[in-house]
Amino acid sequence: MSIVIIKAIKDRKSIRHYDAHGATVSDEQIKELLEAAMLAPSACNSRPWKFIVVQKKDKLDKITKIHPHTQMLTTANCAIIVCADLNLQSGISEGFFPQDCGAATQNILLQATELGLGTCWCGIYPKEDKTTAFRSLFELPDNIVPFCVIAIGIPAEEKGSRGFYEENKIKWIK
Ligand SMILES: Cc1cc2nc3c(=O)[nH]c(=O)nc-3n(C[C@H](O)[C@H](O)[C@H](O)COP(=O)(O)O)c2cc1C
Repeated sequence: MSIVIIKAIKDRKSIRHYDAHGATVSDEQIKELLEAAMLAPSACNSRPWKFIVVQKKDKLDKITKIHPHTQMLTTANCAIIVCADLNLQSGISEGFFPQDCGAATQNILLQATELGLGTCWCGIYPKEDKTTAFRSLFELPDNIVPFCVIAIGIPAEEKGSRGFYEENKIKWIK
């Protein structure tokens, strides 16, 4: 198990070109991704996430109009919008939703890599203009914060592992 996870961590890369005409991402695969997301740690186990699965081509195209850095969605098979539900946070867990949703997002990316799917994490929160635009496009109530949109598809590009180990970012205290 751990060997598989390490391989997914090393193999994961942002994929921005997908096969738009061949195999598609199945609902079963999407459920696997969401199960991985929901296994993420969260403050006080608040699990403040909600997910919107977008498979409608027309809606994917609309996202590219409100978020300029999501053009990969034109060939993606689907997208998952990871949202935070502020009503699910209270007390000590309040305010931790970016970490909680970030952990859930990374789990989706790693599970997708394991399934041979390509993904690209596109940020929404905390950019106010993007948050407002997604709220409006998906008619979200005030308690739902769109955190990021993940493009998902069958990879049509290959990317090698780069490796980013930077010793100068580490302070050792022995
Ligand atoms: C918070 C966040 C926001 C991002 N937003 C975008 C985006 O809007 N569009 C995009 O193409 N990639 C986006 N990315 C992907 C990064 O560009 C990518 O992770 C980074 O260049 C490293 O490349 P890699 O994912 O292939 O390792 C985002 C990544 C993160 C973590």
